[in-house]
Amino acid sequence: MPQQRFVTVVTGGSRGIGAAICARLASDGHDIVLGYRSDGSAAATVAATVRERGGACATVPVDTADEASVDRLFDAATELGAVTGLVNNAGISGPNGRLADADVAGMRRALDVNVLGYLLCARRAVRDLARNGGGAIVNISSAAATIGSPGQYVHYAASKAAVDAMTVGLSKEVAADGIRVNCVAPGTVWTDFHQDPQRPAKVAPGIPLGRAGQPEEIAGAVSWLLSADASYTTGAILRVAGGL
Ligand SMILES: NC(=O)c1ccc[n+]([C@@H]2O[C@H](COP(=O)([O-])OP(=O)(O)OC[C@H]3O[C@@H](n4cnc5c(N)ncnc54)[C@H](OP(=O)(O)O)[C@@H]3O)[C@@H](O)[C@H]2O)c1
Repeated sequence: MPQQRFVTVVTGGSRGIGAAICARLASDGHDIVLGYRSDGSAAATVAATVRERGGACATVPVDTADEASVDRLFDAATELGAVTGLVNNAGISGPNGRLADADVAGMRRALDVNVLGYLLCARRAVRDLARNGGGAIVNISSAAATIGSPGQYVHYAASKAAVDAMTVGLSKEVAADGIRVNCVAPGTVWTDFHQDPQRPAKVAPGIPLGRAGQPEEIAGAVSWLLSADASYTTGAILRVAGGL
């Protein structure tokens, strides 16, 4: 009998950490529903990689901070089969600098995407997964949640601390439904996320392993948490931060 494939929704899959997660999951037996915000051609490139690796892929434009848009993302999954997992990954930094100088619209948008967006996606996922007999959610947090990011983006660190908290609470809430909820907290990773593109090189001397991470090094941790090897792991916050 053929092994059942995973069907996993990945938000922010068009580039950076999310793109590496899509590619790795495809190699590990997942079909992917790839949510992206604006860059359809980048999403199509990642989808081609997923297909080369043997996975099916649907690409869906989504604003994760919008309830109806999140529902459209999950509704698109039905063309691939019953959803078995979610990677809550789409995130933004908002304004960089000291809190005293941060503008309210930028902070509000960061909180909307990083906190409300994760809650909306997780809410829809637990509804679908409970109906489908269980599954797994991985939230991408940040080492910033415990470091606090002074002088850089305290509001962003606070939003990621909220991601850690929702991971712990939701894991307990839905364990009896057969749903595991875990978190990966990356340190600084080489992506286009940073306002200063050279930030990963600049912070390297302060990282115990002496360098910033690569997106693929985050993707491996995510794939493990979604796999049967992590069947007894829930409520965990797995730090993948080079020792920070
Ligand atoms: N890079 C790091 O050093 C680092 C460290 C710790 C944690 N993280 C976390 O890791 C996650 C991924 O970061 P990254 O570095 O890969 O970021 P990135 O390169 O900036 O990519 C962000 C992705 O999220 C999508 N996105 C942004 N806002 C969205 C929205 N409202 N709705 C749907 N999709 C949206 C973007 O889509 P478009 O391209 O189409 O706009 C893109 O695919 C984030 O949660 C981030 O906070 C990153």
